[in-house]
Amino acid sequence: MTQAPPPKKHGLARNTAGYGDPDFALYLRRSFAKSMGYSQAMLDRPVVGIVDTGSDYNNCHRTLPDLVEATKRGILAAGGLPLAFPTVSLCEPSLFPTSMHYRNLAALDTEAMLFAQPMDAAVLIGGCDKTVPAQLMAAASADIPCIQLVTGPMLATPFQGERLSACTDCRRYWAAYRAGTVSAEKIAGIEERLATTAGTCGVMGTASTMACIAEALGMMPPNTAAIPAVHAERLRAAEEAGRLATQLIAHPIRPSQIITAHAVENALRVLLSLGGSTNALIHLTAIAGRRGIPIDLNRLNHLSDTTPVLVDLKPTGEGYMEDFHAAGGVPALLWELRDLLHTDAIDVTGTTLAERLREPVFVDRRYIRPRAEPVSPVGGLVALFGSLAPRGAILKRSAATPSLFETEARALVFDGLEDLAARIDDPDLDVTDRDILVLKNAGPLSPAGMPEAGYLPIPKKLARAGIKDMVRMSDCRMSGTAFGTIVLHIAPEAAAGGPLALAETGDRIRLSVKDRSLDLLVDEPTLAARRAAWHPPAVPKRGWDRLVAEQVLQADEGCDLAILR
Ligand code: FES
Repeated sequence: MTQAPPPKKHGLARNTAGYGDPDFALYLRRSFAKSMGYSQAMLDRPVVGIVDTGSDYNNCHRTLPDLVEATKRGILAAGGLPLAFPTVSLCEPSLFPTSMHYRNLAALDTEAMLFAQPMDAAVLIGGCDKTVPAQLMAAASADIPCIQLVTGPMLATPFQGERLSACTDCRRYWAAYRAGTVSAEKIAGIEERLATTAGTCGVMGTASTMACIAEALGMMPPNTAAIPAVHAERLRAAEEAGRLATQLIAHPIRPSQIITAHAVENALRVLLSLGGSTNALIHLTAIAGRRGIPIDLNRLNHLSDTTPVLVDLKPTGEGYMEDFHAAGGVPALLWELRDLLHTDAIDVTGTTLAERLREPVFVDRRYIRPRAEPVSPVGGLVALFGSLAPRGAILKRSAATPSLFETEARALVFDGLEDLAARIDDPDLDVTDRDILVLKNAGPLSPAGMPEAGYLPIPKKLARAGIKDMVRMSDCRMSGTAFGTIVLHIAPEAAAGGPLALAETGDRIRLSVKDRSLDLLVDEPTLAARRAAWHPPAVPKRGWDRLVAEQVLQADEGCDLAILR
């Protein structure tokens, strides 16, 4: 006679500690939980974990206590037991060398805690750039029912007849300050006004792009990506996330059912039509990679050529995230793109995109354009390939200067961040606005940790002469809030011995957006001699840095750790 399988364990009975006596382990767990004042009736409920990334170091997450409370309310009302727990919190400007260096640590921490602690479902609350990707990577790997909630964008602040928000306006004014057209007093005054409410950067930077991607993937309650952080609606979204997560326990929909090849392609379309952050491509590649779904950069080019940019927000347009939300947000964008999407994809509610897109939704055309009048007829990103980037590089064409798309010029090469800082403003620097600025040794494997340094500053003497853009390229990233003719994510990177490692000042480089190419015009014998003299960077002795140096993948594979895929 076949034996019936043991009943599935729920709530606190899941994953009991390994004492060799599961009944004792559960007895002990319950008695310790009771020390926190829970009744037996509460402890018998299904458990919904809440990932709490509140931190005094993370201004973008300063509403976490309120969001956790609202999420708990939703879980309790739906019959669950909410248990919040902390994980690594990453705030973009607060981390050395970069927050990117720790994204995989946050993903590893979150995945481990989702697995190790007893919970039947989870609400993941993130917001700042790397937190949402880390949480989605963790959810994709842990594969328990999860709902993504974001802290939401900050509000823009009126300032001398315009509006300001982090961080496109930070960069715009800083560039003007460097060029001498903004005074020290004014730049100090602006510092007080750039980020005046709680929430993530208020433009279509990485945090906003990733929030929209999470919704487009189906991992977030519909129409919640862009709700401003300080609106009451944001708290109601948290309550709804708690309720939905509890519902998922009885009718599980796992991340593996949501993050499919079709959903990933839909998310890529949304990324392109947002004119979204280049960083999001790396993060989406990492998230998809956790489900074994590759993102082919040639396919990206095809999608980019057939997806218009429809969203008119900074850094490329004029609006802010609060305008995008009021204009209809992600549902309105999905409606506009409906014939380009795979409508069999489902979201956390179990609804297919086809069902969601049955009825037209409100769209404010000032911020979400109709297909007939796009911001740009083609998508924001293009992948480039060639002898300088055999595995690809990325250009955000929606934020670049079209007259620089076809450039062949002399390279001015900086060996790393220190070299860049030491020389870029040297009045004797041999540079003209027709040169190509190249930064190497700033990729994921480098000690620099792939910083957002791809927005190389225009040399001061050129900035003061009125030069606003030049072709710049590197193996690092760029803030989603930045703009310019900037080639990023060159792979393989210099620290991995890619051709970029061999580039020297005076070499000729050819960029052709038309041909999707990026070439180092140096003959093979010269390159061979340089290759023979090249040495890889020293491997860190211990700890997280060592693990990254041994495991991190290149940009075209999402910079995940090889052991986590
Ligand atoms: Fe956190 Fe911009 S610094 S979202």
